[in-house]
Amino acid sequence: MKRIVLTGAAGRLGSYLREPLSQLAAELISSDIVDDIGSLYPNERYQKADVAEMDDIMPLLKDADIVVHFGAYVDEGPFEKLLGPNFIGAYNIWEAAFQNGLKRVVYASSIHAVGMYPKNEFIGTDVPHRPDTFYGLAKCFAEDLGSLYWDKRGLESVHMRILSCAQVTNPRAVGSWLSYDDLIQLVEKSITTPVTGFSIIYGVSNNDRTPVDNAKASHLGYRPKDNAEQFAKEVYASNPPLNSLDVGDYCHGGPFASIELGHGAMAGMNIVNDTKKIRD
Ligand SMILES: NC(=O)c1ccc[n+]([C@@H]2O[C@H](COP(=O)([O-])OP(=O)(O)OC[C@H]3O[C@@H](n4cnc5c(N)ncnc54)[C@H](O)[C@@H]3O)[C@@H](O)[C@H]2O)c1
Repeated sequence: MKRIVLTGAAGRLGSYLREPLSQLAAELISSDIVDDIGSLYPNERYQKADVAEMDDIMPLLKDADIVVHFGAYVDEGPFEKLLGPNFIGAYNIWEAAFQNGLKRVVYASSIHAVGMYPKNEFIGTDVPHRPDTFYGLAKCFAEDLGSLYWDKRGLESVHMRILSCAQVTNPRAVGSWLSYDDLIQLVEKSITTPVTGFSIIYGVSNNDRTPVDNAKASHLGYRPKDNAEQFAKEVYASNPPLNSLDVGDYCHGGPFASIELGHGAMAGMNIVNDTKKIRD
C-alpha cells in the first residue's frame, strides 16, 4: 500500500494508531486540526486540516489508498457545534475519497448510533439506527453515507462502532471495553481485508460481558484478545451499584443515553487521558 491518511491523529485513539499505521504503508499522512503533533514516526508526515473544510480535505486525500477517519468533536453538544466537524466533515471525507479514487474509508463510528437500545437486547450489526444524541446521529449519518457511496459509487467503507476505548473505571466498561491492542487489530483488519463492501462491526474486546453481537462481521477476521473481566471485581466494588431504572445504566449508550439532548456527557465519565507519547 502506498499511502494511508489518518484524521484525528492528535487525539487519544489516533495516538495509538499512528505507529502501526505507519508500518502498513509506504507513507502515513497524519492529520488533525492542531498546528502540529510533535515528533513523527519513520514514514509519517503531518498535515494540518480541518475536516469541515473541503479545501483542506481534497488535497489531503490526493494519492491515498485508504483514509482512516477518526477526526471529530467527541462529545454530545448543540447540533450547530457538531454540524461542521461531524456531519459536514464526514461528507467531505467520503466525497474527497471518491473524487481522489480511494479504495476505502475506515471510519470510527460509535455505539451511540444505536445507544438507545436496552442492553438486554444482544444487538447485531444489522439493527436499525437508534441514536442517543446528536453525536450519535452524526455517526448514523456517516454510516448512511458509507452505504450510499458503496451502492452508488463503489467506494468501500468499514464502520467500527466503538463501544468504549478507555481504561476500565466503571461497571459499564466491563462489557463495553475495547483495549488499545484490540483497536489496533480492528483497524488493521479493516484495512487489510481484501474486500469489505459496506461493513459495520462493533469495536469491543473479547469481554465475558460483551453486550453486542459481531457474528455478521466475521468476514473481517477481527478476533479480539483482551477481556475486561480482569477488572470486574475491583470496578464493581469501587462504584455505586447499577440502577435498573436509570436509562444510562440499562441502555447501550450509557451516560449518553441519559444526558439531555445537546448537553455534554464526557465531563462526567472520568476518562483517563493516557494519550500515547511517541516511542512509549
Ligand atoms: N474513545 C472512544 O471510546 C470512542 C468511542 C466511539 C467512537 N469514538 C470515535 O473515535 C474517534 C477518536 O476519538 P478519541 O477518543 O481519540 O477522541 P479525541 O477527542 O481524543 O480525538 C479526536 C481528534 O479529532 C480532532 N478534531 C476535532 N475537530 C476536528 C476538525 N474539525 N478537523 C480535524 N480534526 C478535528 C481533535 O483535535 C482530536 O485530536 C472519534 O471519531 C470518536 O467519535 C471514540
